[in-house]
Amino acid sequence: MKIAVLPGDGIGPEIITQALRVLDVFKSEGMKIEIEEALLGGGAVDATGSPYPEATQKIARAADAVLLGAVGGPQWDNLPRPQRPERGLLGIRKDLNLFANLRPAVLYAELANASSLKPEIVAGLDIMIVRELTGDIYFGEPRGITTENGKRVGRNTMIYDEDEIRRIGRVAFQAAQRRNKKLCSVDKMNVLETTQLWRDVMNELAPEYPDVELSHMLVDNAAMQLVRNPKQFDVMVTGNIFGDILSDEASMLTGSIGMLPSASLDENNKGMYEPCHGSAPDIAGKNLANPLATILSAAMMLRYSFNDEASATRIETAVKKVLAAGYRTGDIFEPGTQKVSCSEMGDQVVAALAAL
Ligand code: NAD
Ligand code: IPM
Ligand code: MN
Repeated sequence: MKIAVLPGDGIGPEIITQALRVLDVFKSEGMKIEIEEALLGGGAVDATGSPYPEATQKIARAADAVLLGAVGGPQWDNLPRPQRPERGLLGIRKDLNLFANLRPAVLYAELANASSLKPEIVAGLDIMIVRELTGDIYFGEPRGITTENGKRVGRNTMIYDEDEIRRIGRVAFQAAQRRNKKLCSVDKMNVLETTQLWRDVMNELAPEYPDVELSHMLVDNAAMQLVRNPKQFDVMVTGNIFGDILSDEASMLTGSIGMLPSASLDENNKGMYEPCHGSAPDIAGKNLANPLATILSAAMMLRYSFNDEASATRIETAVKKVLAAGYRTGDIFEPGTQKVSCSEMGDQVVAALAAL
């Protein structure tokens, strides 16, 4: 198994180090893993002028899976847009055709008090957000800031064709079939034509999945329902921009954005795995970050790209044990638990894993 590892910027290298230690446990037990590191994001711009350099493109394309930390930071915020670290991330998603982004918001029972909602609202929460990742207003043309009639105009284009909607729809229906068979498609069809097409295509797909109950919800209502009664949802499917926003919102239900992993898959389950959060410049370099979202992303990598359900579950069980034993990074800390650093959290997961 060839894994391209892209630590990225900010807390990226700190959290990736802990995920690699977890993979080392499997390696020491005989799992064949080959790791190649490469640059992506701000560090890549500094070193090469490009946020997704050619050397990284080669390594990422040749790998079976990509494990990513996070990119971006204030020092790169004034660069021309093509050189921004985030463009590197969008570039690799598009280059590898990673159109299906799975973001599971699962509450570990021990973290019920870390959520900003009442424990009874979130207890047992298990939602799968399926976010389309290579289309929508993120990639639509025309785009840019121009001057028209003497004033500046900012423009982006929200666009989906039916094939793009159908392929993400199928991923979502299939995910629902493997779970509780409820799929909620989120759109803004009362205002936006692209999402009218989205709703039409989801309805056209429904007869192929008669065991799945399809419902529709407008995105503003969905944002409200997620904090009112999140357990009404099983699988949610939505476009790139709505999925970005709703998944950050859902992360807080699970205690912290530092807990939410993700998988970004192509048609053949080649994937990139990354936490949903960013490079957290405010805590970077301080050994404070929660590495669990990244460690759980490595578990998703074993599950989806390497078909190794047993090892994926073993990582998730190790994380549960560490939380049950009371270890917490600052973002999920509460009185009565033991505050640990990023690397100490890694120590605990490695120890729990080795004991399983
Ligand atoms: P962010 O997710 O980096 O941080 C938001 C808040 O959550 C901060 O207070 C941060 O300290 C906290 N946080 C995030 N991850 C954490 C963790 N693992 N442990 C503990 N606390 C954590 O979002 P932002 O501040 O809006 O963005 C910062 C930079 O990251 C920007 O340049 C943005 O473009 C980039 N970004 C990158 C990705 C990615 O690489 N996938 C995702 C989101 C944002
Ligand atoms: C995410 C991030 C990215 C996105 C940014 C950094 C391009 O917020 O992975 O959620 O918007 O997709
Ligand atoms: Mn985001």
